[in-house]
Amino acid sequence: MRTAGLAAAMALAGCGAGGDSAGELSALAQEGRELASARGCAACHGDRGQGTVGPAWTGLAGSTVQLEGGGTVIADGSYLRRAILEPDAEIVAGSTIAMPEVSLTPAEVDAIVAYIEELR
Ligand code: HEC
Repeated sequence: MRTAGLAAAMALAGCGAGGDSAGELSALAQEGRELASARGCAACHGDRGQGTVGPAWTGLAGSTVQLEGGGTVIADGSYLRRAILEPDAEIVAGSTIAMPEVSLTPAEVDAIVAYIEELR
C-alpha cells in the first residue's frame, strides 16, 4: 500500500523524465540527493545513501536507531532534522567519527529529509 502511494506521488511529481536511476525519486528528493552530493554529505553517507564512514540512510526513516550511551529513537522527520542540524544532540551508537556541523537553509534540510525518507 505504501509502495502504491509512493508510486502515485512520484507519478504526480513527474519523475522519470531525467532518465537516470534517480528517476525513482520525487522532485524534492531528487533535489535533496543533489544537495547531499554538493554539500559533502554523500562523502560520508554514500552517493546512494548506502553509508561509508557515516551511517547508511537507506532504510533509516521510520526505523529505530540505537544511540551511544544506550537508548533508542525513532527516525521520524524531527529526528532526521535534529540529526542534520544538531549532530551532537544524539549520537548513533558505534560511530567512530563525529558528524560535522553543516550550514543548510530550512528548504535544503527539507529536501535532504525528503530524500532520506524516500530511501526507506
Ligand atoms: C565527515 C563525515 C560526515 C559528513 C560530511 C556528514 N555526516 Fe551525517 N553523520 C556522520 C556520522 C559519523 C554520523 C553518526 C554520528 C552521529 O549520530 O552524529 C552521522 C549521522 C547522520 C544522521 C543520522 C543517521 C542515523 O543513522 O541516525 C543524518 C540524518 C545525517 N548524518 C545527515 C547528514 C547530512 C544531511 C549531511 C550533509 C549536509 C551529513 N550528514 C554530512 C558523518 C557525516
